[in-house]
Amino acid sequence: MISFILNNKKVSVDVESDTPLLWVLRDELKLKGTKFGCGKGLCGACTIHLNGSPIRSCVFPISAVENQSITTLEGILDDENYQKLQKQWIKKNVPQCGYCQPGQLMTATALLKSNNNPSKSEIQSAMAGNICRCGTYQRIQEAILDAAKKGEKNE
Ligand code: FES
Ligand code: FES
Repeated sequence: MISFILNNKKVSVDVESDTPLLWVLRDELKLKGTKFGCGKGLCGACTIHLNGSPIRSCVFPISAVENQSITTLEGILDDENYQKLQKQWIKKNVPQCGYCQPGQLMTATALLKSNNNPSKSEIQSAMAGNICRCGTYQRIQEAILDAAKKGEKNE
């Protein structure tokens, strides 16, 4: 049995220790907000927070999260930075197919938590691991800038 904190509640799961966290979230705990993309740590669709920092849950064994704190999309809906981002996401019609967007928002929320005044280059750097096959990068960048109330003042 492996126990950890998930969205502020203690949970325990009975799975093999090398089971990827993404599988546990989606199949055991039925939290479908975290998406499966590449399964190899390359696309960012499965991004969640481990102790507040973004990680790729598809390549993270469940044994590594024992007694740690995990947050998924379902757990950040009341987060102030998430809500600022969500507002801009809607205003700018950021999503196209939408598949990558939970991961994009998890990374963006962690970025604003660690840096509430990011420049364009800092946003590009933080978001570089989140792939969008629909090419929404420009709108994502603008939404993050506006969520941080930076607008066009950045270089
Ligand atoms: S599904 Fe995890 S990085 Fe692509
Ligand atoms: S919105 Fe379609 S993959 Fe990003």
